[in-house]
Amino acid sequence: MSTQKREITLRFLSQPTDANFSGKVHGGTAMKWLDEAGYACASGWSGRYCVTAFVGNINFRQPISVGHLIELNARIIHTGKSSMYITVDLSSGETTSEQLTKAMHCIMVFVAIDENRASVQVPCWVPSSEEDLRLEKYALTIKELRESKKHELDLIMG
Ligand SMILES: CC(C)(COP(=O)(O)OP(=O)(O)OC[C@H]1O[C@@H](n2cnc3c(N)ncnc32)[C@H](O)[C@@H]1OP(=O)(O)O)[C@@H](O)C(=O)NCCC(=O)NCCS
Repeated sequence: MSTQKREITLRFLSQPTDANFSGKVHGGTAMKWLDEAGYACASGWSGRYCVTAFVGNINFRQPISVGHLIELNARIIHTGKSSMYITVDLSSGETTSEQLTKAMHCIMVFVAIDENRASVQVPCWVPSSEEDLRLEKYALTIKELRESKKHELDLIMG
């Protein structure tokens, strides 16, 4: 069983420079934050440099305001040989408020690579709680959907 940390939380304030034309946080900026949190989680778990291989089920649930506290939570929910499935949630809210609201969610796949950019084995994550088993099922469902539809989608997109 691995002793690595499977979860990481990042907190910071959204800045005026993060705003789009309507004054809310730019969607692309928020996606970058999700990717950074996922990367920190994946590299921390594997002890390796990692690349993003896949992003799925990305949801923008509500706009994010400038000057709000941003909290990103990334956690390992499934490991393959060299791949790590990670859910990333973004919550935000007033710094004066006790509660943050979930604003975004996605699932990401990171792959650990070596100096030649070849994929390398990562420590195995073993689900133990009911919650962990539910989350691993989510990862495996996304994996199955991607693999079963890949050929079809490749045909459509050429
Ligand atoms: C991700 C990457 C290293 C995989 O390379 P590859 O030659 O397919 O490597 P492998 O065949 O050894 O597969 C490695 C793992 O990646 C997984 N994988 C590869 N592409 C994937 C995708 N699109 N979605 C999900 N998993 C993927 C494989 O299932 C495999 O998982 P496993 O080891 O747990 O069984 C390669 O496609 C790459 O470098 N992509 C570009 C990454 C990038 O630039 N990201 C943006 C900046 S970080």
